Amino acid sequence: PVGLADAMMQRGREFVGFALTIRNDSAELSVQSNTYEEDFNSVTPENDMKWEVTEPQRNVFNFNGSDKIVQFATSRGYEIHCHNLVWHSQLPPWIAAGNFSNATLISIMENHIKNLAGRYADVCTRWDVVNEALNEDGTYRSSPWFNTIGEAFLPIAFKFAAQYSPKSKLYYNDYNLEYNGNKTVGAKRIVDLIKSYGVRIDGVGLQAHLTTEPTPSSGGGVTPSQDTLETVLKGFTKKGVSVVYTELDERLVVPATKAKLEIQKQTFKTVAASCLAVKGCVGITLWGVSDKYSWIPGVFAGEGAALVWDENFQKKPAYYGMLEGI
Ligand code: XIL
Repeated sequence: PVGLADAMMQRGREFVGFALTIRNDSAELSVQSNTYEEDFNSVTPENDMKWEVTEPQRNVFNFNGSDKIVQFATSRGYEIHCHNLVWHSQLPPWIAAGNFSNATLISIMENHIKNLAGRYADVCTRWDVVNEALNEDGTYRSSPWFNTIGEAFLPIAFKFAAQYSPKSKLYYNDYNLEYNGNKTVGAKRIVDLIKSYGVRIDGVGLQAHLTTEPTPSSGGGVTPSQDTLETVLKGFTKKGVSVVYTELDERLVVPATKAKLEIQKQTFKTVAASCLAVKGCVGITLWGVSDKYSWIPGVFAGEGAALVWDENFQKKPAYYGMLEGI
């Protein structure tokens, strides 16, 4: 049988990946390392490259976890979609507490990108340079970066990323871009903004934390139609950037019933098919492999079953739906 990444490569695209946290779970490891059916050829570090982990104190760097991720990936010949350089969340307290001036904060950003992106310049195929800069209405989110530097923090971050990791493709990454609403418009504005500074941006990551049915956390939203998804993807590729589904999962109100898992199968197929329908969609990353370790239940109470392997590491209908979509 052909696996997910195999199928994707056969269709001329680049990768299927998963968010990697290294645990001592042999069942999980056997899915993550799957070579027989070749489901994967890329990983995204789930947490190990985030700021609070890599620079917990100013100019004190910790690359223990990220080095292990790199070792895991390179020893298996996987690409690394590196995640992330500049974000408002999972920041160490010293950043928010510091009340830094504009110039100091820019130098802090440069030092972080120089050390982190510079260290992995040969292994990061893509970087999520800026993560989640937007509110739902398309305006900029309040963050130490935006509040001090203004929107220029985006092109500045991309400029440093290009300088210290010249071979990596540079991405803007956000969630809820899939619905073609105001936030999608905001992300297109960001692509234009970065280019207007004469700075390189190569892609937009659509996190795709979706729901297969209306849930308490979804505000009534469900996985958009294939038509809407294609419209969104093309809206970005028309600007000359690639697109990736960077953190795909599709949660539902648990317990998962047979009927719900059937709907989930169809929606995974829809998402995969939308990528294949748009030339500039180069790959898909799942935000984990098994429902056992997904971040969803910890953040959205009463919701879960969002991935394509179940808690016992068995392939769900969604796995086969995704494969059909590719
Ligand atoms: C999540 C991780 O999966 C969790 O383990 C962690 O506790 C919080 O962050 N958008 C992102 C990811 O860009 O970094 C987040 O990952 C999920 C939402």
